[in-house]
Amino acid sequence: MGRLASGKQILLIVAGGIAAYKTLDLARRLKERGYRVRAILTEAGSRFVTPLSLAALTGEKVHQDLFSLTDEVEMGHIRLAREADLILVAPATADLMARMSSGMANDLATAVLLATRAPVLLAPSMNTAMWEHPATQANLALLQKRGCQIVGPQAGDLACGEVGAGRLAEVPDLIAAIEAHFAPGPLKGLRALVTSGPTHEPIDPVRFISNRSSGKQGHAIAAALAKAGARVTLISGPVALPDPEGVETVHVETALDMLAACKQALPADIAVCAAAVADWKLKSPASQKMKKVKGAPPPALSLSPNPDILATLSDLGKKRPRLIVGFAAETEKVSAYAQAKLKAKGCDWILANDVSEGSGVFGGDHNKIHLITAKGIEDWPQMSKQQVAETLVQRFVEALSSKSKVKAR
Ligand code: PMT
Repeated sequence: MGRLASGKQILLIVAGGIAAYKTLDLARRLKERGYRVRAILTEAGSRFVTPLSLAALTGEKVHQDLFSLTDEVEMGHIRLAREADLILVAPATADLMARMSSGMANDLATAVLLATRAPVLLAPSMNTAMWEHPATQANLALLQKRGCQIVGPQAGDLACGEVGAGRLAEVPDLIAAIEAHFAPGPLKGLRALVTSGPTHEPIDPVRFISNRSSGKQGHAIAAALAKAGARVTLISGPVALPDPEGVETVHVETALDMLAACKQALPADIAVCAAAVADWKLKSPASQKMKKVKGAPPPALSLSPNPDILATLSDLGKKRPRLIVGFAAETEKVSAYAQAKLKAKGCDWILANDVSEGSGVFGGDHNKIHLITAKGIEDWPQMSKQQVAETLVQRFVEALSSKSKVKAR
């Protein structure tokens, strides 16, 4: 995908957050991919990275001051705003988003953001409490309503010592969002979320309940969606596969983490639940390794149900993705059980696969799908998992471009 958008011009607005340092690597990698990168560094941003390093990595003058006579004569903030094919704000701080949402233009960054007609991609980064604050969430919702696209933030360890949502998306994820923006492809402009792989439900710090899913099928679907131009967030349980190129990948362990990451990835037009989510988790996982005591009976594991991610996504009301596809992994009565799942989970399509012993579907490279929709059952021939992914994406293209849209379900 890397060279598709070469020659495109990105205006990178670097605001004041600890994650600003990542934009130096981002600028370098975008240049390598053939983008022209111009940068605006806010006053607060210049406390974290220097204009000199940004200038060295972009090969361009860095713009900082709204009232700079030289800058205005040479370039002018209106020209900066006009000439960009895409404006990326990274890190998008709570303060900058607040000023943007209220239409302020009190520095070069906000003046350009107000004056531009170019698409704007925001990469938020801040402390979790600031991110979750109703004021930030209201500003975010307003900016999204006005057409800003969002990448991240991701969850994890934050510079402030807290753990939670608020980390700037990683550089490959920022690049994936930019490439998806410029990608041609029939699904351009659409957002997709895909779950893949197993989940691990801890028994104690060293043991867990899981299954044999390798992630091959889900990862192939995420890659095929990205190739068709969709902006894809892949939420992956623990697998031994590399992250697909051009896809924002979020790594999770448990079903609860997977559900939270799915909600974080919304809004989405398409959702594909290919993950083999553990149906049950331990009621109370042990905090220390459980000891084997000579002569004592083995411990009884007390289980409680995990939330159903597919059913939850299908029941989101206004936030529901337009097209939701689940899988059904069955060992008998494959189509009949899958039809029941279609109804029970409220999704639009189910891809049923036979995972009985000897089928080789779990962990293998091939799959045989029965596509279940409201219209009936369609049996696909045995194919590679990549071909299954490509066939499914072709179906998305047909369904979403047809007049009846979701009623193609
Ligand atoms: O990963 P691979 O090795 O490539 O193997 C592919 C696969 C066999 C895992 C894949 O093709 C597949 O069938 N995935 C779904 C496996 C599964 O858990 O099926 P299920 O019938 O138990 O669940 C039905 C649907 O509900 C699935 O879309 C599942 O993602 C979803 N689900 C299930 C439980 C739960 N708590 N939350 C869910 O979202």
